[in-house]
Amino acid sequence: MKRIVVMISGSGSNLQTIIDQVHRSQDAAQIVCVISNKPDAYGLERAKDADIPNICVDSLAAATDRAAYDKQLIATIEEYQPDLIVLAGFMRILSDEFVNQYLGRLINIHPSLLPKYKGLNTHQRAIDNGDTEHGVSVHFVTPELDGGPVILQAKVPIFPEDSADDIAQRVQVQEHQIYPLVVRWFIQNRLIMNDGRAYMDQQVLGNNGFAHEE
Ligand code: GAR
Repeated sequence: MKRIVVMISGSGSNLQTIIDQVHRSQDAAQIVCVISNKPDAYGLERAKDADIPNICVDSLAAATDRAAYDKQLIATIEEYQPDLIVLAGFMRILSDEFVNQYLGRLINIHPSLLPKYKGLNTHQRAIDNGDTEHGVSVHFVTPELDGGPVILQAKVPIFPEDSADDIAQRVQVQEHQIYPLVVRWFIQNRLIMNDGRAYMDQQVLGNNGFAHEE
């Protein structure tokens, strides 16, 4: 049985797709806890509705001391002994200490075609740059921000009249397809990180992750 902790800061629509998939599938997996750094994150309601233990480790009180906050996070997570930690819109930078503690069992979804547009405001930056294509990446987390090996990407078009919100919505449709899939690969022991590289079925993945080499 693979034990999964999901970390969120907001709406939790990606969390919901993972809850739905774990419940629907016959996979030996359980979401053992949902952790938010914000007390009003709607994702906490989604966890409650699904009878999943849910905890807020409020980051406001600890905003000036990342190390102390991350220690608190680790202590909370350790109670649940997870095999996999899924960052699903967790909008806080994690310390190297945190990342190294969970290296190889920590994944993130980022709304850009990494290595493009690490950090925030990815959709607006793609528009400002005149891009005609954008997308989303799921990757293993390493200490370099949004820099860990890519597992899977999905692309969306950018049309001339698009706002950042239009693109965000288009990207989220793809997020909801690819994140549950990657979680499933991990549950099935098909996906690992070794020496800073992602492997799927023992094959090393390229810069664009599974199946997308150009
Ligand atoms: C998602 O679009 C995800 O890509 C983004 O936060 C959103 C969370 O939505 N994550 C990041 O920007 C991480 N840097 P959700 O709460 O509805 O799943």
